[in-house]
Amino acid sequence: MPTGSAVEPATGSTLSHLEGSLSGRRYDAGSLIGLDPLDGRPLLARYDLDRASTTLTPEVLRGRPRDGLWRWRELLPVADPSAIVTLGEGSTPLLSRQALAEAAGLTDVRVKVESLNPTGTFKARGMAVAVSRAVELGARSLVVPSAGNAGGALAAYGAAARTPVTVVMPADAPRANQAEVLACGGRLVLVEGLISDCGRISGALAGVTGGFDLSTLKEPYRVEGKRTMGLELAEDLGWRLPDVIVFPTGGGTGVIGLWKAFHELEEMGLIDGRRPRMVAVQSEGCAPIVRAFEQGDRFATPWEDPGTRAGGIRVPSSVGDFLILDAIRTSAGAAVAVSEDAISEGQRLAGRLGGGYVGPESGAAVAALTVLRERGLADPGDIVVVFDTGAGHKSPPADLPPAHRVAPTADEDEILDLAARLDLRSPNRLTPY
Ligand SMILES: Cc1ncc(COP(=O)(O)O)c(C=O)c1O
Repeated sequence: MPTGSAVEPATGSTLSHLEGSLSGRRYDAGSLIGLDPLDGRPLLARYDLDRASTTLTPEVLRGRPRDGLWRWRELLPVADPSAIVTLGEGSTPLLSRQALAEAAGLTDVRVKVESLNPTGTFKARGMAVAVSRAVELGARSLVVPSAGNAGGALAAYGAAARTPVTVVMPADAPRANQAEVLACGGRLVLVEGLISDCGRISGALAGVTGGFDLSTLKEPYRVEGKRTMGLELAEDLGWRLPDVIVFPTGGGTGVIGLWKAFHELEEMGLIDGRRPRMVAVQSEGCAPIVRAFEQGDRFATPWEDPGTRAGGIRVPSSVGDFLILDAIRTSAGAAVAVSEDAISEGQRLAGRLGGGYVGPESGAAVAALTVLRERGLADPGDIVVVFDTGAGHKSPPADLPPAHRVAPTADEDEILDLAARLDLRSPNRLTPY
């Protein structure tokens, strides 16, 4: 790829093998595989980082357009560039949000705007990479259990890869997610149950149909796509990391992916050994990681009877629980539970204070900002990065104020009455607030 007058050397994936995240056992990366056959825990992709660091330098990256996550191709698993399926995912902005910082008693809050990804959530990153790699390795059809957003993303990427997709969702998943699966030509299965029930059904369906199961962390490559958020963050901050990261956590691919990216960047000599305090946010209605963190457990006991409006974090158990907990603890971070009211207020607050129209998972992360000072997780002057993982359109906040109604034939008196109801302090101002 041309960079000014210089021409970049040909570069490609430096994927070398897979490794059991708990067993440490080495596996070949050249065929479709799910969990570690030894212990049923996630497999993680490993790269030849020495080789990657010869071409993936700050200078080379400066010359590559910021046109999505594939600019990190050395650190992605797809070997054949023609196998890449993209809808433009990645390269999302990192925006300073002073008003959100002030509301939480902090000085420097930046929002990583993942809701700008295709299909409106960070799930697009994982599915872009996992679908590309699965199809490269020969998958002929794909199956996933999903609270909503992952299913919508899979349907979109499956369509782009011309590969049939089946999504198994709880029947109460947001209508917007159901619609995106169907609109993208996916087969949608609704289950009167929880995401864990969907996982069982999807696994069984994959078994009888020969479809490849893309469940969270049950294949190695969705997390690879998500970890590009961490690569971008380091580059955006001039090859250093923030002091605190706040991430809404369900299955944990976000936290696990970020943590993995930071280790790889350090091995490549691109950052030093300092790490952000990782703060995983859950709802009080489903907080298995928070409970395990507080009890000092290495693995999390499944949460009974999970209930939260934030479907992406209504995950009663995760096969990667110990990886999330390890990252939080090693980083001197925390797992924090917020109430359902706080989640809706977090959504409304982000909207009112110019943080964008965010979904309930991001609302949970915004709500958690207010406890960072109290819990000693952030000091004045710290750079805090909060992840807006998904757009508000998927799942609007509860308790919104009513709209004001007026007849199409409204006369002057009625317009005056409307103006009074709208509480416009200065009628001649161009903007009402
Ligand atoms: C919008 C959104 N945010 C956060 C999460 C939690 O993701 P994870 O814990 O897998 O990183 C999800 C998962 O579905 C989601 O859809």
